[in-house]
Amino acid sequence: MIFPCHLQELAEKGKKSLCPSNPKISIGLATCGRSSGALDLEKKLTARQSWKSEVLVGGVGCLGACYAEPLVSLRTPDGRYYFYGFHGQADSNSLWQIIRAAEGVPSTRYLLARARERQPGTLQGIQDLELEKVGDPGFALFFKAQARRITGRCGLINPESLPEYVATGGYSALARALFQLQPEDVIAMVAASGLRGRGGAGFLTGKKWELASLSPDPERIVIANADEGDPGAYMDRALLESDPHSVLEGLILASYAVRASRAYVFVRHEYPLAVQNLRRAISAARAVGILGKQILGSGFSLEVHLVESPGAFVCGEETSMLRVMTGKRGEPYLRPPYPSSAGLWGHPTVVNNVETLANIPWIILHGPDAFREVGTEKSPGTKIFCLAGDVKRPGFIEVPLGTSTRAVIEEIGGAAPSSIKALQVGGPSGGIVPYSDFSLDYESVASLGAIMGSGGLVVLNTNRCLVDLARHLVDFMARESCGKCLFCRDGLAELEAMMTSLTNGEARSEVVLAELEELSKAVADMALCGLGKTAVNPVLTSLKFFREEYEAHARGKCPALTCRPLINFEIISSQCRDCRCCYLVCPTDAVKRRGGRELYAVAQEHCIKCRACYETCPFGCIKITSEGRL
Ligand SMILES: Cc1cc2nc3c(=O)[nH]c(=O)nc-3n(C[C@H](O)[C@H](O)[C@H](O)COP(=O)(O)O)c2cc1C
Ligand code: SF4
Ligand code: SF4
Ligand code: SF4
Repeated sequence: MIFPCHLQELAEKGKKSLCPSNPKISIGLATCGRSSGALDLEKKLTARQSWKSEVLVGGVGCLGACYAEPLVSLRTPDGRYYFYGFHGQADSNSLWQIIRAAEGVPSTRYLLARARERQPGTLQGIQDLELEKVGDPGFALFFKAQARRITGRCGLINPESLPEYVATGGYSALARALFQLQPEDVIAMVAASGLRGRGGAGFLTGKKWELASLSPDPERIVIANADEGDPGAYMDRALLESDPHSVLEGLILASYAVRASRAYVFVRHEYPLAVQNLRRAISAARAVGILGKQILGSGFSLEVHLVESPGAFVCGEETSMLRVMTGKRGEPYLRPPYPSSAGLWGHPTVVNNVETLANIPWIILHGPDAFREVGTEKSPGTKIFCLAGDVKRPGFIEVPLGTSTRAVIEEIGGAAPSSIKALQVGGPSGGIVPYSDFSLDYESVASLGAIMGSGGLVVLNTNRCLVDLARHLVDFMARESCGKCLFCRDGLAELEAMMTSLTNGEARSEVVLAELEELSKAVADMALCGLGKTAVNPVLTSLKFFREEYEAHARGKCPALTCRPLINFEIISSQCRDCRCCYLVCPTDAVKRRGGRELYAVAQEHCIKCRACYETCPFGCIKITSEGRL
């Protein structure tokens, strides 16, 4: 068993590996880095015999700038950091640049930025780095508007190293709570912070804990919900892959606050790296007495178990999750009773999202007032968003709630405002809203008819067909319906069929729009759980804001020129230079060579609308048309 002074020993050990006296190369080995070739880089750098232990090579998590992966940082013994990004092109030349940099000739090629530790040898997170030189202005802009409170360690520490977590202040909130605060104090602090659950509904975390703690049942349970299944959202995965101990510490603190004796992490099995890092974190914590009996020598004991979820979207819904954990089918049930009064096996159960839990250590260390220093009155603190779609710099970011969409999409993401038509907020059941400058907080997003969800943000440019996008999202939700209620099961399938009739030109009148609206509202009203209730949001919001696109589809026209059954490809003969590119690239021989002035023409009956000719023609003489019915 260790006592808090042992945390000091762990911290010293972590400090040595985090801020060593030799040059140290860290490679981003989260899923985004791996998919861009980071493992290969790591293998080659680790195998460099001549370095022996003069240059250290190791793995870290994700810094957030996923667009520039693989990302590599070099720390020199004087506390300088050189960040390199290879934008998916890590070849032998990039490898050579890192090698030279580690050997004392830092290269400016591929350099994103150079920073230094404000106090050399001391690092708690990215906030302790001071920018010295900008190699790529986009990289500096990516971080400028961010406030990385809970993601500060991501991409800087080795997620497998408990000592590095402790060296960056980890588990000191736990020690503080166990030895200086009563469980009620912890609940009071969380309640005073105004923290709202980051898993979607935005329920007040302090309130939830209070309800569970008031239960007469002494056996209480806490579950970290890591079943993140929204397409386009990966904040929980990024946290678990890059800084699993922060979630674990939050989970232990939540358990202490409600006096739970058992805790679980419910994590989707499609996140193998997150599962692996979590398992390692749990056993490392147990090995030094941070989990198990009498944690850190206090009177509090806790076991944490990991449960791999089967991976359906509906299993993330809390009642459905509780059923899965007892070996039943993943089907939600009607509340009340709420899990906080009767949850797993009938015991009071607190279910909290991964990001919610990662906020807890910060609140305990800095206090509720400091937590409220950023964000809005009703939505305090920061939020992680996953920025995707038509932006220059997709990635995962942390900003104060209430940050403007302009700051997020244009400054951080680098999108040109004139090119953006809409935003899909809150994952598949969030909403499709016009792009304008609005505040990213729970109330503002709800006032548009959408929901924040867990934080997916997809940017859609003017070439995107929003009717087709809404159809696609309804299709996803219909497939993910557990089938328990008629309106969700059959209503969503019918909605999808109606949307398909619009995108394939079979809808013959605008009557279908009224029907779409009516059915969507009926599904939302009659569905039992949040899946069915919110599945229709993309249809309702896009109908509200982009009705003219629906009306055009009802007339057989796709204004964005993307719905295949509604478009045609034509060759503008007057501009054609007879380069044959379209003729050669067409996979179905639909481009026919003609004689006379019309050199080429598209045989519509053979064209599969693959766009290859359009994208290949070097002279821009392929035209896409969507005439519609008169
Ligand atoms: C269909 C559906 C899927 C959900 N998936 C998740 C999920 O993956 N992770 C999560 O934390 N919450 C998810 N939720 C919300 C949870 O039911 C629950 O509200 C949340 O875990 C509570 O934690 P919080 O208060 O910290 O947000 C989902 C809800 C629905 C309706
Ligand atoms: S609303 Fe849909 S997902 Fe939820 S319980 Fe009903 S059928 Fe299942
Ligand atoms: S869109 Fe595809 S199939 Fe049609 S003509 Fe062009 S290349 Fe051929
Ligand atoms: S690719 Fe363009 S320029 Fe070349 S033959 Fe086709 S239409 Fe003409």
